[in-house]
Amino acid sequence: MVMTKENVFGSEGWTPKRLGNLNGKTFVITGANAGAGYEASKIFLTKGACVVMLNRNAEKSAKAIKTLQSEIGADADVRFIQMDLADLASVREAAASVNAEVPHIDAFISNAAIAQVATQQFTKDGFESQLGTNHYGHFLLTNLLFERIVESKGRIVVVGSNGHKGGLKRIQFDDMNFDKNYNPHVTYCHSKFAQMMFAYDLEQRVKKAGLPISVYVCHPGMSKTTLAQEESGGIIKFLLRLATPFAQSAERGAWPEVLCATEDNLKEVAYYGPTNRAEMVGPVGECKLETSVLNADEARKLWELSEKETKISWDF
Ligand SMILES: NC(=O)c1ccc[n+]([C@@H]2O[C@H](COP(=O)([O-])OP(=O)(O)OC[C@H]3O[C@@H](n4cnc5c(N)ncnc54)[C@H](OP(=O)(O)O)[C@@H]3O)[C@@H](O)[C@H]2O)c1
Repeated sequence: MVMTKENVFGSEGWTPKRLGNLNGKTFVITGANAGAGYEASKIFLTKGACVVMLNRNAEKSAKAIKTLQSEIGADADVRFIQMDLADLASVREAAASVNAEVPHIDAFISNAAIAQVATQQFTKDGFESQLGTNHYGHFLLTNLLFERIVESKGRIVVVGSNGHKGGLKRIQFDDMNFDKNYNPHVTYCHSKFAQMMFAYDLEQRVKKAGLPISVYVCHPGMSKTTLAQEESGGIIKFLLRLATPFAQSAERGAWPEVLCATEDNLKEVAYYGPTNRAEMVGPVGECKLETSVLNADEARKLWELSEKETKISWDF
């Protein structure tokens, strides 16, 4: 008999119905002008929180803010700071603006990503585009906001992917740019694996250092967003574009990150997201983690490489 793990949030799973008033709370989120990040922002704002979006595209951001304020109310406290994760100088500038303008961070959410990039491309700093944007960009940003998050006794939420269970299931240290074996999907999975490996390593370091913050990891399952690029191919784009039983709305895709940003008493070294149909849709709860992402030696090596590539020193 197959034993189904009980969902600690009940048979319906975690839903925004569990949220109380979020007045006075501030959420800083990357990539919030579309998809799950936009929907998460909408939920936070509806509950009275302040949202600071770190987005690449100014025009899309102004439009997103206008729509949010027309739906929620003109006083919805949402603002935007321009940041391109594919350009480390831009990440530094945006982090300086956050540190100057945002005195308190209740949760910082690494949500933005690019995926399934059809051909090998590079960020401004010369990294394979998905690794550079999704991992190195967020690694640097997290470091630059870390002091403010610690002062705030806040939390860090990393949006991962079930892709960490596919692809290589390891970091390809001898060819981080995939010069020899570029593949849009495998390389995307590699970038999400790196983000998650970093998150669990950070969680352990925070715990060892006794810092008053938490780090949580989640995923949106298979949600109908704009993630898979127009020029990319493959099953992921196909599933995302269709109303299949294996794909859900962007709004539901946002629930795991809202859960991780707000819920008390979450488990450590856990992975939250939809729990049905190969964890692509359904009630939000704890999901199965591929344990190779917890490899401590590999995580240390990735951390040190990330420090070197982003030109920071961050050992604690
Ligand atoms: N949708 C899924 O089924 C699925 C499955 C597994 C994991 N995920 C994860 O869920 C998270 C949210 O994705 P989504 O599906 O909501 O995708 P999405 O609709 O494409 O939204 C991604 C956001 O990231 C932003 N972004 C992309 N490149 C950026 C850059 N260089 N600098 C700053 N922002 C940038 C985009 O902004 P622009 O408008 O400027 O492009 C957009 O706001 C991602 O971490 C993704 O890996 C999604």
